Amino acid sequence: MKQKKDNRAEYSGRQGVKRLPGRERRRESGQTSARSEEKPVKKPGQPGRHVSGKRPEQPGKRAIGKKQVWRGGNMLYPVPAVMVSCARKGERPDIITIAWAGTVCSNPPMVSISIRPQRYSHDIIEETGEFVINLVTEKLARACDWCGVKSGRDTAKFAAEAKAQRDEAAGMKKAPDGTSEMAAPEKLTAGKASCLEAAPIILESPVSLECRVKQKIELGSHDMFLAEVVCVDVDEAFIDSKGRLDLDSAGLIAYSHGTYFGLGKKLGTFGYSVRRREG
Ligand SMILES: Cc1cc2nc3c(=O)[nH]c(=O)nc-3n(C[C@H](O)[C@H](O)[C@H](O)COP(=O)(O)O)c2cc1C
Repeated sequence: MKQKKDNRAEYSGRQGVKRLPGRERRRESGQTSARSEEKPVKKPGQPGRHVSGKRPEQPGKRAIGKKQVWRGGNMLYPVPAVMVSCARKGERPDIITIAWAGTVCSNPPMVSISIRPQRYSHDIIEETGEFVINLVTEKLARACDWCGVKSGRDTAKFAAEAKAQRDEAAGMKKAPDGTSEMAAPEKLTAGKASCLEAAPIILESPVSLECRVKQKIELGSHDMFLAEVVCVDVDEAFIDSKGRLDLDSAGLIAYSHGTYFGLGKKLGTFGYSVRRREG
């Protein structure tokens, strides 16, 4: 129950900001403002208080290069929203939605994910030293959000386990965590990972990065797991006849300031700024 409250507060979007007392919650939902942390936020989306104490300009009057200086916050957007799967051997697998994820090294290929210690998945990843980052498509966006507001502590997130849980609770109108949804909105299937012992891949995801934890760094609200990508499972549907990966056609999503987006139009490819223009 506690987990449900945390999720609502942290990731519920603009409406939620009003109710949030803490700075951490606003930050993770992407609803950062420059307002004082001590005072409750009254109207989300309004200009924040200038750190210098000056009153902000009236909205609508915009001048190029004129900036407000806000307090430090999590404003690096867009970021990926990914589904991270994990499991202890022989136990029900879990999926956590992660926005604080990134590539941190090319060789060896390494990534980081940051997880609050109270998440159900946190201890699984810490103990097993394994996780899988599954990329999210537009088709999987709902499931991704759902995995980010339900805890594996009381909700099975893969379809097979969710069905077993439903059968067990047959007749119940409510999910064990008290909400009305019992199963993932999308069918998520656990597949055997190629290089890991226990963590499964999500078969519906076009690309799954199998990761082995190298280091855990306690940063504050979150623990960061630094991990090596030991192998990558790529859906053959996105591999062309020449063996090239056509990731553009997978329909990947991005997460920006509390909102999920499909990727927009193509602007250019690596180095296009220095290539001779065609035509
Ligand atoms: C878009 C989105 C991004 C999220 N990013 C993170 C994150 O980076 N780190 C984290 O600890 N929780 C994050 N969460 C919250 C967890 O996904 C959520 O608490 C989930 O229920 C945890 O599942 P678990 O208890 O089964 O581990 C995010 C949620 C959403 C919807």
